[in-house]
Amino acid sequence: MFFSILHLLLSQKVKSYDPVDNLAVNCGNKGNTNPRNRNWVGDVDSNTILFSLIEQSSVEANAPTPIPPNVEQIPFDSARLSQSQFTYSFHVVTNGPKFLRLHFYPTWYANFVPYNSLFSVKAGNFTLLKDFNASLWVDDKHQTITKEYCINIDSGERLNVSFLPTTSHSDVYAFINGIEIVSMPAFLYYTNLTNDLDPGKFKVVGHGTTPYRILSGQALDTVYRVNVGEKQVPPGEDTGMFRNWEVDYPGYLMKEYPQSISSDYTRQPIYKDNVAPNYTAPANVYLDARSYGRDATEDYNVTWEFQVDS
Ligand SMILES: *[C@@H]1O[C@H](CO)[C@@H](O)[C@H](O)[C@H]1NC(C)=O
Ligand SMILES: *[C@@H]1O[C@H](CO)[C@@H](O)[C@H](O)[C@H]1NC(C)=O
Ligand SMILES: *[C@@H]1O[C@H](CO)[C@@H](O)[C@H](O)[C@H]1NC(C)=O
Ligand SMILES: *[C@@H]1O[C@H](CO)[C@@H](O)[C@H](O)[C@H]1NC(C)=O
Ligand SMILES: *[C@@H]1O[C@H](CO)[C@@H](O)[C@H](O)[C@H]1NC(C)=O
Ligand SMILES: *[C@@H]1O[C@H](CO)[C@@H](O)[C@H](O)[C@H]1NC(C)=O
Repeated sequence: MFFSILHLLLSQKVKSYDPVDNLAVNCGNKGNTNPRNRNWVGDVDSNTILFSLIEQSSVEANAPTPIPPNVEQIPFDSARLSQSQFTYSFHVVTNGPKFLRLHFYPTWYANFVPYNSLFSVKAGNFTLLKDFNASLWVDDKHQTITKEYCINIDSGERLNVSFLPTTSHSDVYAFINGIEIVSMPAFLYYTNLTNDLDPGKFKVVGHGTTPYRILSGQALDTVYRVNVGEKQVPPGEDTGMFRNWEVDYPGYLMKEYPQSISSDYTRQPIYKDNVAPNYTAPANVYLDARSYGRDATEDYNVTWEFQVDS
């Protein structure tokens, strides 16, 4: 009994990956805050060397209060906004691939109305968002948007992330509520080209059997990350990279609804031969599943549906 409790405590605390670069910026706010054991650094009067804000014509403003219960206070209760370009310049400690996350809460901020946001976001050589109208992405006014990218950074380089209002429209503005930069294992998603045994991890549907290689000069845009089964695995319960694992129902599971089954959540999977290293996904992703169980017949057709941008 004592040992199983101890084991539970340890498995919750020790993460299998410890990112060297781990920065969360709370835009339009001052000081440090620690919701859900994550340190967010304000970008107002900040004296950290980890980032600087270039072009100061931007302003900070708060979201209307009270913040709806489904919207997390940090980083969504404040934003940085501007009708002209502004840039965050990040000092990254290590080279290699990073998660770059952008958090948006389209709502009313001072004189900025939600339906007038229209802007592009560039990071290094990549245009991550083009003519992005945040209010088009949400169904109601109590929703937030998180965009996640992977991008490689060379050693000694700064990562500049720029917000550029679309110039062909007047009165439009750019805004941002939160930015995260988090290191990831070198070959979690990217292909290890020096390893002949790593052919690439994915095959592209309709493009034969040759694995698709993801090269360090490429950037990735997360479209969906879904845990099949009953559990959402929130960023704080990831293996250390603060990834969010959405639950598959009711959002994606569309046809036939096999039950979620779960193992004992206090157990740990056995990572045989490190084929999939333990940081690849948190244990709870493996410990629940959907099973056809006794309903299984040849035409019991389970379908998950994902909308994708053509
Ligand atoms: C993950 O695996 C590594 C290497 O196999 C091991 O050193 C580490 O203790 C494991 N971490 C956890 C939290 O299980
Ligand atoms: C953004 O989308 C909203 C919702 O469709 C629309 O009302 C608004 O005009 C759009 N804004 C711009 C600047 O295009
Ligand atoms: C951006 O492009 C320049 C010139 O093409 C290249 O030298 C540099 O390595 C690129 N940077 C990244 C981060 O891909
Ligand atoms: C980032 O911006 C700063 C300031 O404008 C500039 O000095 C630096 O060269 C930029 N870095 C990169 C990698 O573009
Ligand atoms: C990449 O592959 C090479 C050759 O097998 C190996 O020595 C190296 O450790 C791999 N890198 C990582 C980070 O796994
Ligand atoms: C299962 O559903 C898919 C998508 O609707 C369809 O293409 C497929 O033929 C179905 N298979 C069976 C065995 O019904």
